[in-house]
Amino acid sequence: MNRQEIIICENLEESLDKAIGKCPFDKLFVLTDEHTRELCLPLLNKTACLQDAIQITIGAGDVHKELDTLAHVWMELSNQGATRHSLLINLGGGMITDLGGFAASTFKRGINSINIPTTLLAMVDASVGGKTGINFNGLKNEIGAFAPADSVLIETEFLRTLDTENFFSGYAEMLKHGLISTVGHWAELLKFDTVDIDYAALRALVGKSVQIKEDIVQKDPYEQGIRKALNLGHTVGHAFESLALEQHRPVLHGYAVAWGIVCELYFSHLKVGFPKDKLRQTITFIKENYGMFAFDCNQYERLYELMKHDKKNSAGIINFTLLKEVGEVEINQTADKEEIFDMLDFYRECMG
Ligand SMILES: NC(=O)c1ccc[n+]([C@@H]2O[C@H](COP(=O)([O-])OP(=O)(O)OC[C@H]3O[C@@H](n4cnc5c(N)ncnc54)[C@H](O)[C@@H]3O)[C@@H](O)[C@H]2O)c1
Ligand SMILES: [Zn+2]
Repeated sequence: MNRQEIIICENLEESLDKAIGKCPFDKLFVLTDEHTRELCLPLLNKTACLQDAIQITIGAGDVHKELDTLAHVWMELSNQGATRHSLLINLGGGMITDLGGFAASTFKRGINSINIPTTLLAMVDASVGGKTGINFNGLKNEIGAFAPADSVLIETEFLRTLDTENFFSGYAEMLKHGLISTVGHWAELLKFDTVDIDYAALRALVGKSVQIKEDIVQKDPYEQGIRKALNLGHTVGHAFESLALEQHRPVLHGYAVAWGIVCELYFSHLKVGFPKDKLRQTITFIKENYGMFAFDCNQYERLYELMKHDKKNSAGIINFTLLKEVGEVEINQTADKEEIFDMLDFYRECMG
C-alpha cells in the first residue's frame, strides 16, 4: 500500500498549498457534509487554490455513508467534468473520509485525494490507514477498498466546534493508541484535562496518536498480524454498539470502544497478566468520562452472539487483542462463552 503523507499542520493554508502542489490536477473538488461546509470550509477561505474548487456537499451522519450518496458523488464528479487527473479534497469526519476516499479510489479507476479530517476520530483513526468504504445491506463498511489518500492534513483548530460526545468518541481511540504504545503516552492521556481543553497540548497528543496508528499500518497494511493491535476494545465494543442500535439507543463508536476496553483489559489481566493497578486507573478514567452502557444478564446471550458474528472472527472462534502490559500486545487470543459471561459480570459490577 502506498505511504500517505501525514502532516500535523502549523499553517493549514501552507500545508494545503504544498499538498496540492504535489498532485497536479485539472479540476479540484471539495467534498463536505452539511455541517463541515458551514463550520470547517470557512477556515479554508483564504486558500487561493481553493477559490475555483467545485463543492460537493452531502448529508451529515453515518446514515449517509451509503450507496445512493456515493452515487451522488460519482455523478457530481462526472457531470462537473472530473477526469483521471482531477483531485478530491475530503473535508470532514470519518464519514466523509471513508466515502470520499472510496469515491476517489473508484472514479475513473482512481483519482488523487487529500484528507482534511475535522473530527478527533477522523484525525487519529479514520482518515489514516487507507481503509475506505460505505455501509451496505445493513452492514457497516461492507463495501470498500484499501486506498490511502495522497496526503492527510491534520489541523486541530477544527476541533473547537466539535461537540463533547464526538470529542470523547475520538478520544477513546487515542486511549487505545496509548494502551498499545508506551506507558508515558498512556499516562499523559489519563492526565489530560478533558473538561477545560488545552488545544496546544491536544495537538501534541493527536500528533503522537496518529503516528502510532501510522507506524502499525506501515508494518502490516492488510491486517495479517500486528495491525490487529488496533482492534483492542473492539470485539466487545462492536457488540455493545450493535446491541445499542438494536435497542434503539445508539451510542457513538468511541463510547462503545471505551466500554469494550474495560472488558478486554479485564481479560488481559486474567489471561496474560495485565497489571491490576493500570487496569484500575484506566477503568476509573473511562467510568468518569464515558459513564456506563447499562444492560442486564438477559442480554448476555445476545452480546455473545454478536461477538461471534463479528467480522474479525472465523469458524465461530471469538478473537481478542489483549495486553500483557501497556505496549505489549498479544493478538489472536480467544475466550469461551463462560469466560465472556464472567467478563460481562465484571463490567456491570465495576461500572455500575
Ligand atoms: N477508515 C477507517 O479506518 C475508520 C476508522 C474508524 C472509523 N471509521 C468510520 O468513521 C465514521 C465515523 O467518523 P466520525 O466519528 O468522524 O463521524 P462523522 O464524520 O459522521 O462526524 C460526526 C459529526 O460531526 C460533524 N462534524 C465533523 N467535523 C466537525 C467539526 N469540526 N465541528 C463540528 N461538527 C463536526 C459531522 O458533520 C457529523 O455530524 C464511521 O463511518 C466509521 O465507520 C473509519
Ligand atoms: Zn474504532
